[in-house]
Amino acid sequence: MNTANSNYLQQFKKSIETPEAFWADAAKDIDWRKTPTQILDRSQPPFYRWFADGELNTCENALDRHVKAGRGDQAALIYDSPVTKITKSWSYSQLLANVAKLAGALRNLNVQKGDRVIIYMPMIPEAVMAMLACSRIGAVHSVVFGGFAAAELAARIDDAKPRVILSASAGLEAQKVIAYKPLLDHAIELAQHKPEKCLIYQRQIANAAATTASLLDGRDFDWQTLVSAAEPAEAVPVRSADPSYILYTSGTTGHPKGIVRDTGGHAVALRWSMPNIYGAKPNDVFWTASDVGWVVGHSYIVYAPLLFGCTTLLYEGKPVGTPDAGAFWRVIEQHKVNVLFTAPTAFRAIKRDDPNGEFVKKHNTKSLRSLFLAGERSDSTTLEWAENQLHVPIIDHWWQTETGWPIVANCLGLGPHKVKHGSPTKPVPGWDVRSLDEAGHECPAGQVGSLVCKLPLPPGSLLTLWQNDERFRESYMNDYPGYYKTADAGMIDEDGYVHVLARTDDIINVAGHRLSTGVMEECLARLPDVAECAVIGVADEIKGEVPMGLLVLKSGATISESEVVKQAVERVRADIGPVASFKLAFTVKRLPKTRSGKILRGTIKKIAENTPFKMPATIDDPAILEEIAADLKRVGLLKK
Ligand code: COA
Ligand code: AMP
Repeated sequence: MNTANSNYLQQFKKSIETPEAFWADAAKDIDWRKTPTQILDRSQPPFYRWFADGELNTCENALDRHVKAGRGDQAALIYDSPVTKITKSWSYSQLLANVAKLAGALRNLNVQKGDRVIIYMPMIPEAVMAMLACSRIGAVHSVVFGGFAAAELAARIDDAKPRVILSASAGLEAQKVIAYKPLLDHAIELAQHKPEKCLIYQRQIANAAATTASLLDGRDFDWQTLVSAAEPAEAVPVRSADPSYILYTSGTTGHPKGIVRDTGGHAVALRWSMPNIYGAKPNDVFWTASDVGWVVGHSYIVYAPLLFGCTTLLYEGKPVGTPDAGAFWRVIEQHKVNVLFTAPTAFRAIKRDDPNGEFVKKHNTKSLRSLFLAGERSDSTTLEWAENQLHVPIIDHWWQTETGWPIVANCLGLGPHKVKHGSPTKPVPGWDVRSLDEAGHECPAGQVGSLVCKLPLPPGSLLTLWQNDERFRESYMNDYPGYYKTADAGMIDEDGYVHVLARTDDIINVAGHRLSTGVMEECLARLPDVAECAVIGVADEIKGEVPMGLLVLKSGATISESEVVKQAVERVRADIGPVASFKLAFTVKRLPKTRSGKILRGTIKKIAENTPFKMPATIDDPAILEEIAADLKRVGLLKK
């Protein structure tokens, strides 16, 4: 065994056998206003509280701390926006000054410690500043991804009940200008809960009309005016177990799950992850090409790189089309990026446009030491392509909104393991991963089961669901007492490598975005002519998976197939948002079901993807499967 692996083994063993000792050590890298004496409160399982009596401020750790240490002139944030052709950078001192003023403006809007603040913003630096400003005054932010429709935003407003919403006049999606303010106004109209105030950042976008939003008297305030008049606010101490943010993620019903993150555990885990998982060094340029609306963006665009003293890069663009498949290599060269983190879908898009890597050759990417991929399963073709182009370690790692940081990875800082394509490698210290069968027994090596993590989870993982402890228990804790259910199926092989294979619920991953097919079905079922429907995820060359809808019309319905499909596509876009990428649908006479009436979605998926399947023993009428295959052929959706 090489020494590198023995380091990993030692750390892993310590983290599982004596978690308190392991994380007490890691907590020394955080500045506490009150040093915790109780490392883990285990008194109310499955609700565990890390560093229970500690107090700290995350923003202070991310900004003030580095300035005080004399690193105020180091770049903290680089904004690179090919869509506006703007590149700008803030030093730690400058970012701190901006954040403190914005925090002061929030105070002036009466935002108090513990109040919720929704942030519905495009990928502009003010979104990062907004998150840090909330953290500075102990407010709980909830960032809502811009690709969600007004109804989804309204559901989050009703659940989080924010005192204030922060937004912007417009965002830019490649060449499209997205007017955020009308979406926000509509969401507030739909929601039962009304925020007291909205702070709107008016964007000046060259050559784009209507990027200045109209402000509602008494409710809406101009960001720039309020911030420039505000006094900077000091960081306040927050209890370690107090929520730092709520991030909504898809659940299996129309109500998204509000994942609650604590404060102390979050800071400790993210800070620890930077050198140990990502092999990062302070001063590195760390680029996570995601969106602040997703957990990956929360953890690795905003908090972790700043807690560790890196320069973080905020990219407002796409891997392709802004302007071409060389965009990532241009950014790496221009800003001397050391670590890149994105979703495999981004690389599939680049590979499609530049299969031979002609664009890579035009740029100097020597600064890059490693590439991390997450959000969906990494296929070996994409991994091999990336390895051949970049000649750096390509690390697949597995995590979830709930966990907040990686569960399984090839920890670069602890000595990398040999890569096995198809596996994100081994459990990260802190994560006791098992594969269990339906009876809750551990599966032998190589046998597929439910992937679970033994409690207590390490710091930084979800505390609960926002004001819904019962749903937290039901969703994650009840099925396998003593374990957190990840809802991913997979196996652990004879070498201890974890293989993540598929979700056990109705979640699909579309271009790395997590979506529920059940929620799409609820949405389609509301169409006047639809009696019944099913939505499945089918393989897509670029996005990994895309949703496909099967619609059964009400008897006597006279609507044409093309019209009902058009309505279906429009409805999902209007109710869930463009991010659902719902574009494929067709009508069928009947849906295949079990004798007890359960729709056989897994079998439909296999038929659509043209993969062999076993006839389900409990199928009610096998003839329906032939009808579905014929319909798929008829509408040209059967995969070749
Ligand atoms: N605001 C408004 N609309 C948005 C949006 C936002 N923030 N983000 C996406 N959308 C829209 C897109 O414009 C698109 O609309 P369209 O149907 O009118 O074309 C739709 O939502 C689907 O977006 P997406 O799935 O991102 O598809 P795409 O074709 O625009 O881009 C990729 C595909 C692969 C290039 C892109 O998804 C990507 O870069 N992904 C990798 C990185 C990533 O974000 N991963 C997520 C978590 S790590
Ligand atoms: P999200 O909560 O949006 O981060 O999505 C989490 C889900 O994405 C997981 O439950 C997995 O299904 C999937 N996922 C994330 N990373 C990986 C990975 N490296 N390999 C396989 N699936 C992944």
